[in-house]
Amino acid sequence: MLKNNLVIKRVTRLSDKVLEDINLLLSQWYKKSYSIDPEYLTLVIKNNYLIALYDYDHGSIVGIVTLIKIPKLSGVKGSIEHLILDEKYRGQGLGEKLMVYAIDFAKSLGINTLFLTCESEREVANALYQKLGFNIKKTNFYYLNLNNSK
Ligand SMILES: CC(C)(COP(=O)(O)OP(=O)(O)OC[C@H]1O[C@@H](n2cnc3c(N)ncnc32)[C@H](O)[C@@H]1OP(=O)(O)O)[C@@H](O)C(=O)NCCC(=O)NCCS
Repeated sequence: MLKNNLVIKRVTRLSDKVLEDINLLLSQWYKKSYSIDPEYLTLVIKNNYLIALYDYDHGSIVGIVTLIKIPKLSGVKGSIEHLILDEKYRGQGLGEKLMVYAIDFAKSLGINTLFLTCESEREVANALYQKLGFNIKKTNFYYLNLNNSK
């Protein structure tokens, strides 16, 4: 059970406060001051499922996770991205609750498999995913940078 002031729900529209809170979380993620383009964030909110942990005592979003639904030839899959909890809120079971909410949300969307990637040095996150039953798939992970900049 969450404390009364804490609520997990999908973000459905962008406001100045939502933008500010998400920039604070992304700054913790990237370990430097970060500012996402509001138009791009609006697109993310519209086309994906941005799930947030709200602390109503402070009127702020204090954690997020993004769920992306992907209809593949092999079935409807879901990708979990950017699970981030504000540093002050970690270690109280809230990251796990956010993930459980995202998993249940994915089930309600008819998603049959969830996948995610996680750098091995993120010990807490790796432990959390394994606790929740995620299996490690031995595969090569490739990416291609399509930006022209070096
Ligand atoms: C990953 C993150 C969301 C976890 O949230 P959290 O609220 O701190 O984690 P919880 O309190 O819900 O703990 C859930 C499980 O994580 C693991 N865990 C939590 N704190 C841990 C620690 N200090 N050391 C090792 N494992 C830990 C445990 O398995 C724990 O379950 P348990 O309490 O039954 O042992 C949070 O630490 C975070 O935002 N980290 C930075 C961003 C990040 O790495 N995101 C993941 C990207 S792949």
